Amino acid sequence: MSLSEVASSTGVRITPLSGYTGALIDGIDLSRPLSSEQTASIRSALHRWKVVFFRDQDIDHAAQIAFGAQFGAVTPGHPYEGDSAPAGFPQIHTVSPAAYDHRYGTKYRKRQSPNGPGWHADVTPLINPPSHSILRAERVPGYGGDTQFTNVAAVYAGLSPSVQGLLDELRAEHRFGSTTSAERSPEKIGDLVRSNPLATIHPVVRVHPETGEKVLYVNPSFTREIVNLSPRESRHLLDLLFEEIGRPEYSVRFRWEPGSVAFWDNRAALHLAPRDFEHVEGDRILHRITLVGDIPVGPDGVASESISGDYFGAA
Ligand code: SIN
Repeated sequence: MSLSEVASSTGVRITPLSGYTGALIDGIDLSRPLSSEQTASIRSALHRWKVVFFRDQDIDHAAQIAFGAQFGAVTPGHPYEGDSAPAGFPQIHTVSPAAYDHRYGTKYRKRQSPNGPGWHADVTPLINPPSHSILRAERVPGYGGDTQFTNVAAVYAGLSPSVQGLLDELRAEHRFGSTTSAERSPEKIGDLVRSNPLATIHPVVRVHPETGEKVLYVNPSFTREIVNLSPRESRHLLDLLFEEIGRPEYSVRFRWEPGSVAFWDNRAALHLAPRDFEHVEGDRILHRITLVGDIPVGPDGVASESISGDYFGAA
């Protein structure tokens, strides 16, 4: 492929940003209704690059929701959103230190996951985790606060066939708050998790419903254990997989500017929120929406099973 690909009929330019993950899309104004050619270009770039980025977009909450609705039904902001969504926009999940403190409590935000970096796809403890997320930057610090993304279809493809064969048959429990002990927290997050526990058994490898690719479907933020293995076997196998997920060659790092938008496929990409907040100057305020997801299915054709929590439908 040349450095950028431009579809002459639509003027859309797609520029890959790394070998496996991420492409920048130019030539689309997200505040306006998209043509079918434009939505097709975005979908096809998502299939290949798992996350796409747009710069200099002048959109507000309503326009962000209208943009997302052209790709699927928009969910409420988060299953634990409570009263923290902006007035009139239950679909918006604001991402900022202040919003997290309001939603969960101050100590919770500062907890580090014991599983190392907190790579995750959004809300995988749900039976139908959101298919896509769209995150828009309102205010960003002058440096730092970058988000990283990685391609978990590529991570799976990079494993040896024997390990792939083993993983294809396994299932794992995803549970909200278990890796950060939120379940036992005396803060707001503890009440949220205890009153509405979210937990699901998902296949360790899911088949992507649109591309047919096999995708590694565990993450260090929400995957508690691989079921039907001993705790030690589960721990060691997850450690291996989390190390593979963290390999830099699969990932891309995105530098935010006001008006930047990231649009990713949670069924094929993980992301890693920054942890350098205490070292940067200036606010970091972003707004996220998510699209209703399907129930994962493994290579054996068997779907995920809910332990606790409702289907996450449209707002
Ligand atoms: C998220 O996990 O959706 C937020 C990512 C970020 O803060 O960069």
